[in-house]
Amino acid sequence: MKYVYVHWKHEKAEEPSHLWYEIADDKFQNRTIEFYADGSVGFAVRSEATDGSDDLEIGGTTNSTEGFPDVEEINSDKEFEALEITAAEFDQQWRKALASRRHMTRLLTIAIDGPAGAGKGTLARRLADHYRLNLLDTGLTYRAVAYALIQHALPLDNVSAAETAARQVDLAKLDRSVLSAHAVGEAASKVAVFPTVRRILVEKQRAFATTPPGAVLDGRDIGTVVCPDADIKLYVTASAEVRARRRLAEIESIGGTADFTEILADIVRRDERDMGRADSPLKPAADAHLLDTSEMAIEAAFLAAMAIIDDVLAKRDKA
Ligand code: DC
Repeated sequence: MKYVYVHWKHEKAEEPSHLWYEIADDKFQNRTIEFYADGSVGFAVRSEATDGSDDLEIGGTTNSTEGFPDVEEINSDKEFEALEITAAEFDQQWRKALASRRHMTRLLTIAIDGPAGAGKGTLARRLADHYRLNLLDTGLTYRAVAYALIQHALPLDNVSAAETAARQVDLAKLDRSVLSAHAVGEAASKVAVFPTVRRILVEKQRAFATTPPGAVLDGRDIGTVVCPDADIKLYVTASAEVRARRRLAEIESIGGTADFTEILADIVRRDERDMGRADSPLKPAADAHLLDTSEMAIEAAFLAAMAIIDDVLAKRDKA
């Protein structure tokens, strides 16, 4: 078996631009995947010829017995760029294509919860990219409310101002570069205790989650409150020490300095506030899969999450 990837460098919306082939005996295309620029996916699986002819039909295209061209032959045409890939690489694309096909027929929701700094943001981004889903970091919505109050020099316990700010939050305009500041996160944790503010934001988050093809949402109450019916719930955690060490490394990597003990105290305080509040406290949903990243690199966490999700999808497909 041979595996080939072909990039067809054209501007045509009606033709696939990224193609993956599984080729048997240098001749037949066993499986073919076609990705189009608009995100749609085409599949072909070889079926037996029934009329005794040399040509086989796969997914509507003729699979000639003249054989699949060599990679060099394909590359001699400037419009194409081809390379041999591994079986694992093909399988990864196949899974991605299957997941996309599922999304066309049914919504997929992945809920990720956990404390600050556990790696859920990176994981959410990787999963949204892999399964081609929309992505919402719900922490940014609470940060946007806090930021609005700070901008207007209003106290963080001004509930009616916080409600107004929450109503004005536009999910399409959340600017991570301003909202990611540490002080904004601290302030967000404070405005997040108000039930009315939460209700306004949760309504927007739910609308986002139910927009096709579905979404990965990460936060504190996604599996418990925002999307209690999510197809997959992950609770990503890590010890406070590990999270503090990661935060320190992050600060130092951009040339900053900070005190480990202070960062750790900050994290512990934020955990207490997020887990201890009366409305929608941070906790794993009863049916969440736990992922402890204390001793796990992000790639390992991604693979573990993928295994959980693919398993759920396989069962859902059979149902
Ligand atoms: O994930 P983050 O650091 O951006 O979140 C900032 C604060 O927002 C967090 O300390 C608590 C609050 N938050 C929340 O209460 N519920 C969510 N779903 C997401 C964040």
